[in-house]
Amino acid sequence: MTTAVIVVAAGSGTRLGHSEPKAFVPLGGDTILGVALDAVLGMREPPHVVLVVPAERVDEARERYAAVAAAASAPFDVVPGGETRQGSVSRGLAVLPRLIDTVLVHDAARPLTPPAVFEEVAAAVRARGRGVVPALAVVDTVKRVDPSGRVLETVDRSELAAMQTPQGFPRGALDWAYSHADEEYTDDAALVASTGLEVDVVHGDTRAFKITLPADLHRAEQLVAEREG
Ligand code: C5P
Repeated sequence: MTTAVIVVAAGSGTRLGHSEPKAFVPLGGDTILGVALDAVLGMREPPHVVLVVPAERVDEARERYAAVAAAASAPFDVVPGGETRQGSVSRGLAVLPRLIDTVLVHDAARPLTPPAVFEEVAAAVRARGRGVVPALAVVDTVKRVDPSGRVLETVDRSELAAMQTPQGFPRGALDWAYSHADEEYTDDAALVASTGLEVDVVHGDTRAFKITLPADLHRAEQLVAEREG
């Protein structure tokens, strides 16, 4: 087994309006993180899993999820996150064993991403030898707007795509990009592309939406209930 999935779950998620860090908010009888982990462990070949959680939740996450990973025969680690998402990914990367050659980075905040998406991204990284990111076409009309709220122009949406996770990379490329990044990026594809490495997109999945607002959590609850009902 040479694929690792780093699940970043160390954000506070203030827009969700919960006192808990977002990944620890209840979902479907578990937590957002627990549901995300189940999807990762649904891969046919169990990957090496690293959970990146708030420092004060490391012990709890280990106690809660180590047995779940062991039952799926997935090597498992939990590490404390950083100030930013990028800092959190970097801490996950730091603990990967040498034998890992393909790394997928996944937002815990996208818990309903189907296992098939992880498999497709991992297979595409191996086949193409470059970064691979699931993405959806942008369906809304998109406009550039100035800080005062004035519309400046309409952007050609046929050239746009909305990025999801898991984002996959050859391990060497991701390590190299992280060791050379000199600013903060909102996703790994941007960070890797900034260092001149190539990244492709594959079709994303509407179920890989990110839980940000209370309405997103409500939608996730409904989907979990439908899945289990
Ligand atoms: O804040 P946002 O929803 O964009 O975060 C995306 C993912 O990155 C979430 O799963 C969140 O837990 C994670 N994150 C992290 N460490 C941070 C900030 C965000 O692991 N410092």
